[in-house]
Amino acid sequence: MASLISVESVSKSFVAGKERIDVIENLSMEVDDGKFACIVGPSGCGKTTLLKLLCGLDQPTSGKILLKGIQPDPRKQKFGVIFQEDSLLPWKSVIDNVKFGLEINHKKGDLDATAKRYLDLVGLEGFEQYFPHQISGGMKKRVALARALAVDPEIILMDEPFADLDAQTRSILQKELLSIWSKLQKTVVFITHNVDEAVFLGQDVFVLTKRPTKLKVAIRIDLPYPRSRLSPPFISYREKILNALQEEISSL
Ligand SMILES: Nc1ncnc2c1ncn2[C@@H]1O[C@H](COP(=O)(O)OP(=O)(O)OP(=O)(O)O)[C@@H](O)[C@H]1O
Ligand SMILES: [Mg+2]
Repeated sequence: MASLISVESVSKSFVAGKERIDVIENLSMEVDDGKFACIVGPSGCGKTTLLKLLCGLDQPTSGKILLKGIQPDPRKQKFGVIFQEDSLLPWKSVIDNVKFGLEINHKKGDLDATAKRYLDLVGLEGFEQYFPHQISGGMKKRVALARALAVDPEIILMDEPFADLDAQTRSILQKELLSIWSKLQKTVVFITHNVDEAVFLGQDVFVLTKRPTKLKVAIRIDLPYPRSRLSPPFISYREKILNALQEEISSL
């Protein structure tokens, strides 16, 4: 299968005043077209930094990232991104939040119809005219997902999108995300701290080391969907990833 995303020996450092901070060091990984990839790693290791490099919002200090053979560039490619601190515009209705995503991506055509189609897809039919303060946390995540999907992106990048949800809503949204992904056949890169979530969702789980981060191990989750959290292979994948992460966290 073709590799959609190719991260080749990427390093990223920041300079703040006289201080230089090495965040990513010699990271290489590949994500194939149409795959669901999860990234886990210790807090502060550089996951969000990597996500910004993947969508061309920032550039590596050395090494290269290729997306279908070219460097990521938001002016040339469409990305569906849900940032870690993603929030909706409070003064815009649900449908206008989704349309806003289309407008900034210069989408043409019937934006109302497109926005509505994606709101229906994420289960928000009937809530188009609500404002963010009138909907629940889980529904806000659905709007953010609709906004990301509506631009018909090459890849969907999600940075801990379900982190602040209760367990029940989180579990529902995980299942819905898988169902949407299988319908749309997009490549997804999903960052999470939750190992259980990574094994439930991902076909490949990339475990990153502590900062300066590189790939610790890539684990292919060879389990069909829907996955049972109680099955012995599920538990053993979870253990394997937890152990790899634990080694990084205990040496912080
Ligand atoms: N623009 C920047 N300038 C300077 N340092 C930065 C910048 N962006 C990120 N960093 C630093 O890079 C490191 C990694 O940050 P990043 O947000 O990528 O971590 P993370 O793995 O996403 O963490 P978390 O799991 O807590 O979300 C941090 O030490 C952060 O301070
Ligand atoms: Mg982060």
